[in-house]
Amino acid sequence: VLSQADNELLCRVGPETPMGALFRRFWLPALMPSELPEADCPPVRMRLLGEDLVAFRDTTGAVGVVAENCPHRGASLFFGRNEEVGLRCVYHGWKFDTSGTCVDMPNEPPESNFKPKVRVTAYRTAEWGGLIWVYMGPGELEPELPRLDWCLVSDTHRQLGKWISHSNFAQGLEGNIDSSHVSFLHRDFGDGGARGLMNQDGAPQLTVKETDFGFVYGARRNGPDGQFYWRLTPFMLPSFTLVPNPSWPRTGHCVIPVDDEHSIWFSVTYSLDEPIPQSIRDDYAAGLRGQPRLKPGTFEPIATAANDYLIDRQIQKDKNFTGIINVREQDMAIVETMGPILNRTIEHVGTADLAIIAYRRLLLRLARSLQDGRELYAPYHGDIFRVRTLDVVDAEPQLGTLMEAHKDKFLSLV
Ligand code: FES
Ligand SMILES: [Fe+2]
Repeated sequence: VLSQADNELLCRVGPETPMGALFRRFWLPALMPSELPEADCPPVRMRLLGEDLVAFRDTTGAVGVVAENCPHRGASLFFGRNEEVGLRCVYHGWKFDTSGTCVDMPNEPPESNFKPKVRVTAYRTAEWGGLIWVYMGPGELEPELPRLDWCLVSDTHRQLGKWISHSNFAQGLEGNIDSSHVSFLHRDFGDGGARGLMNQDGAPQLTVKETDFGFVYGARRNGPDGQFYWRLTPFMLPSFTLVPNPSWPRTGHCVIPVDDEHSIWFSVTYSLDEPIPQSIRDDYAAGLRGQPRLKPGTFEPIATAANDYLIDRQIQKDKNFTGIINVREQDMAIVETMGPILNRTIEHVGTADLAIIAYRRLLLRLARSLQDGRELYAPYHGDIFRVRTLDVVDAEPQLGTLMEAHKDKFLSLV
């Protein structure tokens, strides 16, 4: 449980909030490059950390992200003309470049010195790991791009998915570090193999080890021959996780706050040594894997609270635990129907929730210390993000020793 005050501190991300400040210390992925496919293409609206923004790709191919409302009299720059290296407001023609500088003010006399005094709020952007990232923090504190494993492979070796969840980022993230729900929410009655190992022991013993990038938690299940089935999941600040899959492919998630009650989810499937097969790309597109089925041309899932996530009670009897077909739709059904901001004062967290407790403590502690003027370590050390998961059957009962024994596969990638 959290106090009401701590729950607010954890979940609120707008300007002037402590958690909003924490997120504003990191580069945040926000757009798929396909949303801005070419120079001078139509701008797109977006909302991040409670701020309404417009993104555009200018004539040179550079991506700009600016406040949606024009600094002249507030018209929406979404309607702007994206032309000749800038976005021009259609109300009175003021034009801004990707840095936010006003480069043309055609309704003022040429001798006016008003233009240099006007700027639109603009954020830095980067194209990295197959996504467009935005940095919304203080200009002098620009962080390094995180050298996440999946950002370092070529585009051919990576498939990304994106969708919007109608829920606060923290409850989504808490699902992504919640090993024990996999044995239930995602149980498929036809599952064998390592998923089978997971299903045999639905009460893993959890251990958390804090690291400079966030933490690692180990879920230890009883395995064959008196050994342990260990799954090690890294949580990387501010909201990246990887899934310790029993076998190829490698997958991960990231939950980025749109505002207090919505988030962008990215899922990634990647491989270190082979291109992603077309079958996986097709499955993504069809919403059969990696992401929910989406309304065409949008990032809005088809399965929503309004249709009870298309639950089928017969499937729930015969085929899987939930009666909901798609794994990500199963996740959305749960995290969204908790309410847009989960009331954590009413929970009963148990020993299976250790990683979630650790996550809340870490974020609250870092947000408070940032508020007290102590800057974070992780944003300025992009290399520490280069970690992998571990999924192994091993006799070792202790997380620390296990991490040490397997670190060549797992942590020492720097
Ligand atoms: S409101 Fe944008 S130019 Fe006037
Ligand atoms: Fe899940």
